[in-house]
Amino acid sequence: MLDTLHATTLLHALSGLRLGHPIYLYMQVGSTNAEAKRLAAGGAPEGLLVIAEEQTAGQGRAGRHWHTPPHTALALSLVLRPTLAAAHGMRLVMLAGLAACEAIEQVTQLPVQLKWPNDVLVNGKKVGGILVESGLTGTTLDYAVVGLGLNVNFSPDPALVAFPATGLAAEAGHPIDRVRLLRALLARFEVHYPMLTTQPEQLHAAWAARLTLLHTPIVVHTATGATAGEAEGVDPAGQLLVRSTDGALLRVAAGDVRLRAVE
Ligand code: BTN
Repeated sequence: MLDTLHATTLLHALSGLRLGHPIYLYMQVGSTNAEAKRLAAGGAPEGLLVIAEEQTAGQGRAGRHWHTPPHTALALSLVLRPTLAAAHGMRLVMLAGLAACEAIEQVTQLPVQLKWPNDVLVNGKKVGGILVESGLTGTTLDYAVVGLGLNVNFSPDPALVAFPATGLAAEAGHPIDRVRLLRALLARFEVHYPMLTTQPEQLHAAWAARLTLLHTPIVVHTATGATAGEAEGVDPAGQLLVRSTDGALLRVAAGDVRLRAVE
């Protein structure tokens, strides 16, 4: 029998949470982020959740496609309205990453790490990604859409992905209950949500402690080219601090990091 998301099951599973209401459940949609942005721009309240069984135009970072096959994945977008300067928007990526790690660990017992800036990893392979998009009023967030895609009961075809990827079921050795995972995700997100404004340093520290590929030879690819070096850490704005092999310190706001082979 197909494992299908049902509205009544979701309503029941998410009862008692502040986030995750109202729920817009689609059997098929282009992108949950695009749909959530449309609803947020039209005045949707904080906590609104868009979730889809299948995305036909799922969006990844840097214009990449995000694959969401039906009955096997979690693809969701949460509308938030935090009182936050746009310059602090990366804190939402930190929060989503932390919530994803804790929820996956709680439900699967697998150890989870994050790869800067927005990848969720198990055993060094990507199981999920975060895409935060926002609407601004001046320099302040009007709304933010936190999108999260997780490979739950499937593993992506290696030919279709840019990085080594896997699924939670493959790593755990058994199928994972998507609804239980969804509830855990929203619950952990909700617990940490106040940190966005009240404890940003702690949020940053908890996120940074989960990051892989720090203090190890890497190549960072940005819009302007590739730099070989080592990541020394992340600054409070979430930028990667890279010491290049020629000794210069770079602050990288957006890019992709890969391990570098050293002779
Ligand atoms: C990445 O790793 O590049 C980010 C992937 C984010 C994918 C999720 S799936 C739910 C939400 N809707 C989208 O269109 N994208 C995000």
